[in-house]
Amino acid sequence: MKNTKKFFVTTPIYYINDVPHIGHAYATFAADILARYYRQKGDKTFFLTGTDENSQKTVLAAEKARKNIKAYTDSLANKWKDAWKKLGISNDDFIRTTETRHRKVVEEIFKQIDKNGDLYKGKYEGLYCVGHEAFLKEEDLDEKDLCPDHKTKPDYIVEENYFFKLSKYQKPLLKHFKENPDFVQPPERYNEVVKFIEGGLQDISVTRQTQKWGIPAPNDPSQVIYVWFDALINYISADPSKWPADLHIIGKDILRFHAVIWPAMLLSAGYELPKKVFAHGFFTINGQKISKSLGNAIDPIKISEEYGTDALRYFLFKEIPFGNDGDFSSERLREVYNAGLANGLGNLVARVAKLCEKSKVTFKVDRSSLEFKLGETTKYALCLNDLNFQGALEEIWRRYRQLDHYLEKQKPWEIEEKGKLKPVLEYAVSEIIKTNELLKPFLPETAERIAKQFLQKKITSSIALFPRK
Ligand code: MSP
Repeated sequence: MKNTKKFFVTTPIYYINDVPHIGHAYATFAADILARYYRQKGDKTFFLTGTDENSQKTVLAAEKARKNIKAYTDSLANKWKDAWKKLGISNDDFIRTTETRHRKVVEEIFKQIDKNGDLYKGKYEGLYCVGHEAFLKEEDLDEKDLCPDHKTKPDYIVEENYFFKLSKYQKPLLKHFKENPDFVQPPERYNEVVKFIEGGLQDISVTRQTQKWGIPAPNDPSQVIYVWFDALINYISADPSKWPADLHIIGKDILRFHAVIWPAMLLSAGYELPKKVFAHGFFTINGQKISKSLGNAIDPIKISEEYGTDALRYFLFKEIPFGNDGDFSSERLREVYNAGLANGLGNLVARVAKLCEKSKVTFKVDRSSLEFKLGETTKYALCLNDLNFQGALEEIWRRYRQLDHYLEKQKPWEIEEKGKLKPVLEYAVSEIIKTNELLKPFLPETAERIAKQFLQKKITSSIALFPRK
């Protein structure tokens, strides 16, 4: 039967005033694991990431760099593209919100929302934090009246803006949440959003009068569209034929934008809603918040140069249950690397290869193992369906441990008779090849090396997959 399933996964589009740090790489790796998994299963997969460029932050950063905005955004967007390339990210498309394909769809959706009677002109008076690109309430500020996250003084703004009737969507949103208990995950995030919506929704200002950088509002070009209103639409503008997304992976700080404002915009403009929004947790570095002023942001490329990208992927998803907050420490990275990769997988693979090399047994290259089904109902598949990456990794490593025990029991290094040795080695090799299919989405480079080594008639030793650190 022909597989007609599809899977469309997105990451947030990242602000370009910064270079990628570990928090950004996290969602992108998660989406990459899933995209690789669904592709491998044969589903029509579309993995989208990109950059959020129509932000006030962009203007300020370009000014600081003394560059014109266009040149600045081009060079920064390229940095992000390069970073993902270096990290082996398999995205199918990369959307920049300064592209024409994006602007066109934003204009269209804005007009549809307007046509539906959901925009009106009003006066906005309040505090705006450029760091958040969002309005803050006084009670949000710290004791010094600063934004508690960015430690900056928000701008006091009085403007004539267009407002979106978010309040009108309270009931329809609640209905959607009730009918789709998986719409937002993990469950505690779902509950948090429902509670927020139940508390009542206020209309939001969706244009800015004093800003020049951004997409002009089609109904009033003297205003530009609020950056979040424009940014969310990237999920459609990249390729409208792919909509709706099956999964938006985001950080917990941008949950309300994705689980309240975005669905309301879609309802208003007459689009289907995404199937699922999953909010992951936040990283601290050695117990401290990642911050520019502390200068403690971890560069994923540096780590990948030292340990390999696969090791970083393994660490992030083995160590922290997806959805929880977690801490990143170099010490812990080294421990996890040595235990699971150097001593675990690396050692096992080296041992089996060496035994094969010494035995001179020839193998029939069993391509059928490659068709080993990723399965719809195996525990591994169920875990991935729930974005339980840790559980899926545990399934893989359970198989490796089983093979380790098997070898300990059979002691092939003591078997002299070739006829007796052959089936033992054949079993070990076929287990490695099968499990490799599960490993592929998580550790793609390693899986490729293992496949090259073990899909041979004569298997030989090679350099260690994971040298001990
Ligand atoms: N541009 C918006 C997203 C628009 S999506 C339509 C944005 N960009 S961001 O670059 O500031 O953040 C992107 C993602 O990085 C967010 O999901 C955020 O949660 C994540 N992280 C930023 N710092 C993080 C940590 N310290 N830990 C984990 N993720 C974090 O918001």
